[in-house]
Amino acid sequence: MYVKVASPFIGDEEINGVAEVLRSGRYMSGPRVEEFEKKFADFIGVEHAVAVSNGTFAIQAALAAMDLQPGDEIIVPALTFFSTATAVIHQGGVPVFADITFDDFSLDASDLQRALTPRTKGIIPVHYFGHSADMDPINKFAKENGLYVIEDCAQSHGTKYNGKVAGSLGDMGAFSFFATKQMTTGEGGIITLNDGDKADFLRSFRSHGMTGRHDHGILGYNGRMTEISAAIGLAQLERLDGLNKRRISATHEIMKRIKDVPWLTIPQVPQHIKHTYFWLHILIDEEKLGMTTAELIPYLREKGIETRNRYVEPLYKQPILSGEGISPLLKLFAGDNLPDYANMNLPNVEKIAGSVIGLPNRPDMSQEEIDYVVKIIKEIA
Ligand SMILES: Cc1ncc(COP(=O)(O)O)c(C=O)c1O
Repeated sequence: MYVKVASPFIGDEEINGVAEVLRSGRYMSGPRVEEFEKKFADFIGVEHAVAVSNGTFAIQAALAAMDLQPGDEIIVPALTFFSTATAVIHQGGVPVFADITFDDFSLDASDLQRALTPRTKGIIPVHYFGHSADMDPINKFAKENGLYVIEDCAQSHGTKYNGKVAGSLGDMGAFSFFATKQMTTGEGGIITLNDGDKADFLRSFRSHGMTGRHDHGILGYNGRMTEISAAIGLAQLERLDGLNKRRISATHEIMKRIKDVPWLTIPQVPQHIKHTYFWLHILIDEEKLGMTTAELIPYLREKGIETRNRYVEPLYKQPILSGEGISPLLKLFAGDNLPDYANMNLPNVEKIAGSVIGLPNRPDMSQEEIDYVVKIIKEIA
């Protein structure tokens, strides 16, 4: 048996939707993008959604809409996909890293004060692996210090915190629809928000900064979503609750059956959070296991279990942030205030990086596959 860790779920609705677009001859800025935006905004519980070409661009556009100026600092967690930080640099900002917690693997609100400087303008909490960041203390800190909050929701479609859907908890939410996510449009992204003026700005920003047929009033980009992607997105959005339900159910069963395995820690989820388990993330105690996480991954693969294995280094160690490989853009915009990334050492990030893997938890997993994953994991114990 070989148990795959993830695969997009595409049915006739997506295929027929794409075929209709192709036959229609209208591929850009049409009715499907508009409908997708409206339905996605309703799903999140916000006034507006602006669909774009990918999740990284969604973060960059959100920062632009918040009027990020060259050299402004944005606090981001030091363990996530790197583009949470590169989106800041692309828009002229400087990422400042904060630690994450062992509870939710997301931004540690108690580390925000340390990261704060007179140049700090905003915070990007990431709802890592589908587990909501602890938004109340993050929002409180932001309010007290006049900062904006852009949620990175690339891994949290349908995640909830205190009954509210991720993407409605800060000033804006930035989603990715990359193929492995809870729902996909192939490539794609969307920004969710309540501010109508900023939604207008975003629509211009994603379309060459056009403010009229012949005018470019702001420095924009081509970051539009196609009608083809929106047609896929409309069908996927219909499926999202069902897919999440099945992924959560498979995850709960596996977690329940492996929770006493001594070399791993299963996700800890408080009552007020609905975790959508983009990953069934387990933290490995390498000493108890008697092998490294890097050794465990090929071992499991040989046994027929594919795992997720990413984000293995603290972001502050990335070559484009310091030394010879430093991004000239970052150097220019940070000037004398370039953080000393190379000498950073955030204790939780250092301990967690490289020690987390994701077990298979596909919505379409069979009972046989679930039983097999549990058996193999318990056998190692
Ligand atoms: C946490 C996080 N932020 C941002 C992104 C960027 O999204 P995209 O790949 O659509 O640009 C991703 C996804 O890949 C992600 O996982």
